[in-house]
Amino acid sequence: ASTLDQLAKAKGRYFGSATDNSELSNSAYTAILGGGEFGATTPGNSMKWDTTEPSRGSFNFSGGDQIVSFAKSHNMIVRGHNLVWHQQLPNWVSSLPSNQVQAAMENHITTEVTHYKGQLYAWDVVNEPFNEDGTFRTDAFTNAMGNGYIADALRTAHAADPDAKLYLNDYNIEGLGAKSDGMYNLVKSLKQQGVPIDGVGFEGHLAIQYGYPTNMQQNMQRFADLGVDVAVTELDVRMQLPADTSKVSTQAQYYTDAVKACLAVTRCVGITIWDYTDKYSWIPGTFSGEGSALPWDENLNKKPQIYGAISTAL
Ligand code: XIL
Repeated sequence: ASTLDQLAKAKGRYFGSATDNSELSNSAYTAILGGGEFGATTPGNSMKWDTTEPSRGSFNFSGGDQIVSFAKSHNMIVRGHNLVWHQQLPNWVSSLPSNQVQAAMENHITTEVTHYKGQLYAWDVVNEPFNEDGTFRTDAFTNAMGNGYIADALRTAHAADPDAKLYLNDYNIEGLGAKSDGMYNLVKSLKQQGVPIDGVGFEGHLAIQYGYPTNMQQNMQRFADLGVDVAVTELDVRMQLPADTSKVSTQAQYYTDAVKACLAVTRCVGITIWDYTDKYSWIPGTFSGEGSALPWDENLNKKPQIYGAISTAL
């Protein structure tokens, strides 16, 4: 049978999985990660600011380098994640006087993007800039620079690696709604100003108890129509535990619909799941009582119904 990535490739897309450094010491895990199911990977943590520049001007790329090296030797492309985000941001940044934040941000972006120049398919340049109502989050960056920090971050990244695709990435923008309208208006205005933006990432952290996003295909299409690529960057479908047959069939349908939404949009370049196995999913640690979100179980066995749903949809 074809792998998920082979099926995606046949349609001109990639199918990827996030990973994390500690997981790479599990050989049963890496055999699957690098075994052909996935043509792309995203480091779950090791390219974030708190890891890469824990104190000002002191950079550490060892974790990210390890994942890039694994990816290269297994023919996988890498999505860099991420450069500017209000979370996993070291305290020294949030404690800076606001007139020093722009220089710190630009230096962080230039140094990290230069380090990985030529090695990454894409960068999530700014992660999760929006509130649920579609207004910009208030954080160290908006406090220092207003909303213009986003254009500045994109321009800075582009100067350091003109070949990496530059993305804005967020959650709860998969469907039509106030938050995706906020992202839509931002991307439209960035394009009008000639700011280098290549794509929008729709994280896709879905939960069956909250319902499926409204018109995901139509929503991704309106972004594509602005002249940017789109991608599903962090797909998982969680549920309140314990799983039962009805929850799992709803979950299978969500996976099917999300994959089909991407394939229906010509500029949807690929889908990445936020790791492939429940063994290493971030869900149980973040959403109490929830889990079973991924197509492989905690013993690294494929879940026939979920894997089958993805495979059939591809
Ligand atoms: C998560 C990681 O998977 C966890 O290991 C970490 O503790 C917190 O961050 N949106 C994002 C990702 O853009 O960076 C987050 O990753 C999940 C939500």
